[in-house]
Amino acid sequence: MNSNSDPAKDRAARAGADRVRDGMIVGLGSGSTAARMVRHLARRLADERLSIVAVATSKATADLARSLGITLRELDEVERLDISLDGADEIDPQFRMIKGRGGALLREKVVACASSHRVTMITAEKRVERLGRGMPIPVEVSNFGLAHTERHIRELGGTTAVRRSSDGSLVLTDGGNALIDCHFPDLDDPAALDARLQCLAGVLDTGLFVGLCDVLIVARPDDIEIVEVTRAGATHPNNQ
Ligand code: A5P
Repeated sequence: MNSNSDPAKDRAARAGADRVRDGMIVGLGSGSTAARMVRHLARRLADERLSIVAVATSKATADLARSLGITLRELDEVERLDISLDGADEIDPQFRMIKGRGGALLREKVVACASSHRVTMITAEKRVERLGRGMPIPVEVSNFGLAHTERHIRELGGTTAVRRSSDGSLVLTDGGNALIDCHFPDLDDPAALDARLQCLAGVLDTGLFVGLCDVLIVARPDDIEIVEVTRAGATHPNNQ
């Protein structure tokens, strides 16, 4: 299927955009689902004459939002965000996620932690029983000492691949950092792995998002499911 014509992804994105209300400060995620959401949101702002300001999690999203007339602020210009809307690569039954295939994970996590209400928009195949079987965990790291940081990640039991372009150059995030895609064979406790990785010098953040989904929107070919997440499971330390 052409990635530009994915009706389920589009429905998830529209349902996300529909949750925005007049006057809100809105976090805009990154990736193809978030980009669709931004387009739906821009349409709503024009049609319904809503006034919002938004904070983007990547340069690509900022460029898109700006081109559609959405007013942007830097994260530090706002106290808190009312809502943030983003996609995910995998989500498990405890609403723990892998994010960052698009490389925006650090900014996505900072924005999610600054938001009162986090909405994740996915298509159904992204729901998995166990994280990390089909998708690596992206880890954003400092370029300085990259090989050392990679070795320390391996010492935790992971296999690693530094993300590179086809010409062999490092893929860099908007913050100018490198990415290491990691596989951990026994990913029983994503929060514990996240904490262990974050203790390593050189690691800036990981694509493990735990306690950062308040509403899950799942689009299937014929319907849409909206799950309000009750916070019985792990919460992110920034929320405690
Ligand atoms: C960007 O860094 C990611 O976290 C995306 O949110 C995630 O990869 C989902 O992307 P798609 O919506 O393109 O599948």
